[in-house]
Amino acid sequence: MIRKAVLPVAGFGTRCLPASKAIPKEMITIVDRPVIQYVVEEAIAAGIREIVLVTSSNKNAIENHFDTHAELEASLEAKGKHELLAMIRGLVPDNVSIISIRQGVPLGLGHAVLCARPIIGDDEPFAVLLPDVLVDNSANQATDLAGMLAAYDQQQTAQLMVEEVDWEQVEKYGIVAPSGEAPAANESADLIRMVEKPKREAAPSNLAVIGRYALPNHIFSILAATPPGAGGEIQLTDALETLREQSGVQAYRMQGTTYDCGQPLGYLEATLAYARRHPEFGEGFQALLSRYHQGE
Ligand code: G1P
Repeated sequence: MIRKAVLPVAGFGTRCLPASKAIPKEMITIVDRPVIQYVVEEAIAAGIREIVLVTSSNKNAIENHFDTHAELEASLEAKGKHELLAMIRGLVPDNVSIISIRQGVPLGLGHAVLCARPIIGDDEPFAVLLPDVLVDNSANQATDLAGMLAAYDQQQTAQLMVEEVDWEQVEKYGIVAPSGEAPAANESADLIRMVEKPKREAAPSNLAVIGRYALPNHIFSILAATPPGAGGEIQLTDALETLREQSGVQAYRMQGTTYDCGQPLGYLEATLAYARRHPEFGEGFQALLSRYHQGE
């Protein structure tokens, strides 16, 4: 079972400025918690027990969010606010550890993943979750991440989570070419090619890599030997192409809904989707929505 996950959180988040000037984009709030908390919850729900945050100098707020806040806890305790205290203490369950390591220079996603090598070690496979993307499985029986990790276990082959996107959107994503038919939901298919952000005419399909990966440990050696690619950066997609040639890579077709919280319209949509069904604020939020709707 894959128990370790890498979350690369070192990027500047220029698409979220000015919100992301003094706080990391991963700390932007969706309803009542920061984006990164949803991603950590997703990982834990799928059985991940060790989370490696690959950070940079201006990302302390993320580390603080998952650390103990002794003063706050003492104050809540003194005031008898036990529910809040339990909630704050429960953000990271006792059997989960969150460890961070710095990516000192912005040399790309592949480089960020490689930075986690000293913590992940040289034996185990691991997952990568890009924290811009929220995966909403509220309408499904099981989570897509759990399904993909189980597929890795069964197939012992790298898995990339994919979803169908509009053809106009293919140039924003890594796009995969399955060897035969596109896989059905919750199923995997072998890949014959991957292309990073192709023009629509050059895209082999409209199946996009959404930022959830299950990878063999060997990807580290490949990344270490991968030369800089597009933008002078070490690209994870280039290393995955080498891995595919060596031992195969599969696309795992997800079932849920994604929200790209690396840009304002994406996190606004996530806010709408999550707030409407929130146990505490949902009803009030729906009332607000209809009031604004009537005011159009
Ligand atoms: C990265 C990956 C790309 C993937 C995307 C998903 O790109 O390189 O293959 O489709 O994440 O969000 P980025 O969005 O970091 O440019």
